[in-house]
Order: sequence, then structure tokens, then C-alpha cells
Amino acid sequence: MKKEFFTTHDGSFTLFIPEMNETYHSKFGAINEAMHVFIHSGLEQMNKPVIKILEIGFGTGLNAFLTAKFFFNQKRIAEIYYESIEKFPLEEEIYKKLNYAETDEENRLFLQMHQADWNRDAELFPGFVLHKKKTDLIDFYSDKQFDLVYFDAFAPNKQEELWTVEIFRNLYNHMNKKGILVTYSAKGQVRRNMLEAGFYVERIPGPPGKREMLRAVKN
Ligand SMILES: C[S@@+](CC[C@H](N)C(=O)[O-])C[C@H]1O[C@@H](n2cnc3c(N)ncnc32)[C@H](O)[C@@H]1O
Repeated sequence: MKKEFFTTHDGSFTLFIPEMNETYHSKFGAINEAMHVFIHSGLEQMNKPVIKILEIGFGTGLNAFLTAKFFFNQKRIAEIYYESIEKFPLEEEIYKKLNYAETDEENRLFLQMHQADWNRDAELFPGFVLHKKKTDLIDFYSDKQFDLVYFDAFAPNKQEELWTVEIFRNLYNHMNKKGILVTYSAKGQVRRNMLEAGFYVERIPGPPGKREMLRAVKN
């Protein structure tokens, strides 16, 4: 599918898919949204020294990159295993043009993340392992149990089949007790599907441009 670059309100790029009329991130700020939804509302809520994260939709690699940066600049978390699934990996000519890195060192890390082999562990720096899995969420299986899930699929009105009770139940079964799942969506049907899958679900303040988002907890 054709993709176009779009500059969001905080200056960071996102990708727009004309065929779907859908962007990879909020137009109000790709980095702002990812920081709010996944880092502040998810990662910063973890109080374990070893964390396993599952991301639905590797895409531009922004969430993985911000997670690695967060990890690098703190001492509380000793290890992160980051599994990210993606059905349609981005082409090199696209990811190379994304403007998320602020320094040459960060840019090397960002490219390393994209160029890491699929379906195998890559220790990008001590304590941080990235495992990109090329698969369809519908077929997702992992031998790991996760503490944190970044649910970052395209919007429910664009990909309804990825926001179902069955999908959330599968994720629930792949999570540890007290595990958290965060997503930018606040849609009523999504919340009901999460509840039916067994989660406790709360509506919390959303990123810029969005009143609310959802955080689901496995009790
Ligand atoms: C909203 S984008 C966000 C991606 C990423 N988290 C980012 O920050 O760029 C959703 C991603 O899910 C991927 N995707 C779409 N359908 C999928 C499926 N059935 N299984 C796995 N990934 C899928 C898309 O290719 C896209 O990369």
C-alpha cells in the first residue's frame, strides 16, 4: 500500500495510507502520543526490575525506540525483553527517512532496530533484547508471558478484526498477573471486548487531541 509522510503537530513524522485513510500515529504529535500512551501510561507504571513487553504493530519502530531510550536513561529497570509483531514491515527507503532520532547515536540505534533480523532475539545493548516477529496478530503465539502490552493496531473502525474479544483473550492468556495493556483507543466496544476477555479496564486521560484512552489490567 502506498504511504505518504505527514508532519504531525510536534514536528515528528507519521505515515499516511491514502487507501485506508489512516495514519500510523495521531496528527497531534506522533512522539507526544507514543510518550503519553505507551511510555507514561504503560512503561512508567511498571515496578519490576525485569520486564517483558509485547507490541502489536512494530510499524515505524517509534514505540520500540522510545522504550529503548527510556530504558537507557534510567536505573530502576534492569532488563527489557521487547517482542513486537508486524504483518507488513516497512521498506528501508521509508524507515530511513523517519525523523525520530535526535543524534547520530540514536539514529544508529533506530536503524539497528529496523535492520535486526525477524523472528530472532537481538540484544541491542546490555539488558535490552528486541525480538521482532513477522506474523499476523490473528495467529499470534509466544512462549513468553508479558508484563506490558502496547496495543497499537490501526483504528478499530479500520481493522475491526484486530479488536475482538478473541484477540484480547489471546493477549490476556499471554500476560502475567498484574500485567497492563495500553491503547490509544477509548471506544466503548473495545472496552466491552476487553472486559469480556477478562480484563479490568479503566479510562484514563488521553494524549493531545484525545480526551481518553484505555488501560486494561489482568487481575
Ligand atoms: C497504527 S500502526 C502503528 C505501528 C507502530 N506501533 C508505530 O509506532 O509505528 C499499526 C501497525 O500494525 C500493523 N498491522 C496491521 N495489521 C496487522 C496484523 N493483522 N497483524 C500484525 N500487524 C498488523 C501495520 O502494518 C502497522 O505497522
